Amino acid sequence: MKVEVAGACGFCYGVRRAVDMACQATEGTRTLGPIIHNPQVVETLATQGVAPVQSLQEVDNGSTVLIRSHGVGPQVYEEAKEKHVKIVDATCPHVKKAQQDAKKIVFAEKKLVIIGEKSHPEVISISQWGVNRAIIIDKEEEAQEIPFCEDMGVVVQTTFSQEKFKRIVRILQTKTNHLETHMTICTATQQRQEAAIALARRVDAMIVVGGKNSANTGRLAQVCREQDCPTYHVETAREINPSWFHGMSYIGITAGASTPDWIIQEVVKIMENLQAEGTEVMSEELLDQY
Ligand code: F3S
Repeated sequence: MKVEVAGACGFCYGVRRAVDMACQATEGTRTLGPIIHNPQVVETLATQGVAPVQSLQEVDNGSTVLIRSHGVGPQVYEEAKEKHVKIVDATCPHVKKAQQDAKKIVFAEKKLVIIGEKSHPEVISISQWGVNRAIIIDKEEEAQEIPFCEDMGVVVQTTFSQEKFKRIVRILQTKTNHLETHMTICTATQQRQEAAIALARRVDAMIVVGGKNSANTGRLAQVCREQDCPTYHVETAREINPSWFHGMSYIGITAGASTPDWIIQEVVKIMENLQAEGTEVMSEELLDQY
């Protein structure tokens, strides 16, 4: 079986930085929410004494808390100060920029529009830096419904689709006299999507590796399917079913920005050991290694 891994895939800069900071954290450090959307990494860190909590209320005064790459709102920093909780801030610098842009827009008394998924922690954090005054949208129809205003500022979730962002901005241009656009989509996402699309056009099928709860991994699977390429989203090599690849000889692999290299390599090894025509040849011996 010929296997090709996408040119850009796996941990992005912000996630690698956050995971490195968590790995270097002292035992007993708590992460505010799971450090990344990857259950295997979260479990590994927990065994090293760095486990997630849901809120600062769960930690003792004077303890250490790591803020994950998605970032948090200003109230968390305030609460930490009051509890003398030491913050290790792993907010991705790209997210920090989006948060600061949102704050500036609101302080300049412009209407703030955030383009992104309402329930995503990053979008929630950006909205909180915008004093919860933002209109949050992720569809063209929602943009159409925004009432006209004099001044509007836009920031966008770092992992949002470039194309959809451009379409929404074109609509927003008709909703204001002055539109200030902060293109806060980070290039890691775009590079991963472009590499996945290019590969999906060449191969018989794609495997997208990453947490089922990871938005950017889900989007990689979506862009591969849009190329009419059979696409399978798995969290680990264990989920791979050889029958998916019956009669195929060329498989592409990509992975979300929160997928560690070791999980990608497991999938590569399993796939390289599948024979092109066979569906029964997943090596039991190899599977048992995982
Ligand atoms: Fe940061 Fe971009 Fe990754 S915003 S967390 S480098 S996807």
